[in-house]
Amino acid sequence: MNATPTDGVPVPSRVRVHHLREMKARGEKIVMLTAYDFPTARIFDEAGVDTILVGDSMGNNMLGYDSTLPVTLDELVVATRSVSRAAKRAFVIADLPFGSYEASPQQAHASALRLIKEGGASAVKLEGGRAMTEQVRLLTSSGIPVVGHLGFTPQSENTIGGMRVQGRGHDAEESLVADAKALQDAGACAIVLEMMTAPVAARITEILEIPTIGIGAGAECDGQVLVWTDAVGIGDWRPRFAKAFGNVEEEMFRSARRYSAAVRDGVFPGPEHTYES
Ligand code: KIV
Repeated sequence: MNATPTDGVPVPSRVRVHHLREMKARGEKIVMLTAYDFPTARIFDEAGVDTILVGDSMGNNMLGYDSTLPVTLDELVVATRSVSRAAKRAFVIADLPFGSYEASPQQAHASALRLIKEGGASAVKLEGGRAMTEQVRLLTSSGIPVVGHLGFTPQSENTIGGMRVQGRGHDAEESLVADAKALQDAGACAIVLEMMTAPVAARITEILEIPTIGIGAGAECDGQVLVWTDAVGIGDWRPRFAKAFGNVEEEMFRSARRYSAAVRDGVFPGPEHTYES
């Protein structure tokens, strides 16, 4: 399986930070999916997904937590290492988990170093706008590309008051625009816009030189991201902004049922799976 070339533009053998900016300039959509393990990342990489986010959504989607808040840096380092080993072409971004970067730029730097050195990520993502510019500045000037994250920021769900659409009303819109500009000025290489009204996301996308990646932020963003289990159809609930493009849950369920039946009926393993000597 190979990535599909688009419109004669050469597909980079490895996506790097400048390719994301060039894609924005060409009006070419950036495709991002989350992944938290080697086999999933391998499939997405071979399918031509441009960037893989090792998100702290791993907490809800893989680890059985009911939010992203309990996810630890150690858990993200292990997941990032697995994904980075699989991603031959995709740009790997690792989330800085809750509690690992907010206190100071130095704390952010120490945490980000682990995701880059031990995890093999090419960039880190953090949540927040103007309050995080010192973190973004230090990381960027230390050679660590930073992706910002604005709108509904799950790590702040307790202060936001749950999963709510952001950017409604003049003040909320202006605040998001100011946050986006501040992140860009501090050196962020891209910004995820989550669950905000489409006109606000479109305005931010228009104003910024760096790419925006939307999730529940309308079609005008420079790229889109989905949590991979939502995208392939695992789980019986997904947010309104997500879409299942397959039914992997059904396929896994059927495979497990067929395997169980074969074992119980004594037809697996057959002679072709057995070592006689
Ligand atoms: O953790 C994550 O997967 C994310 C995406 C939802 C953008 O931050």
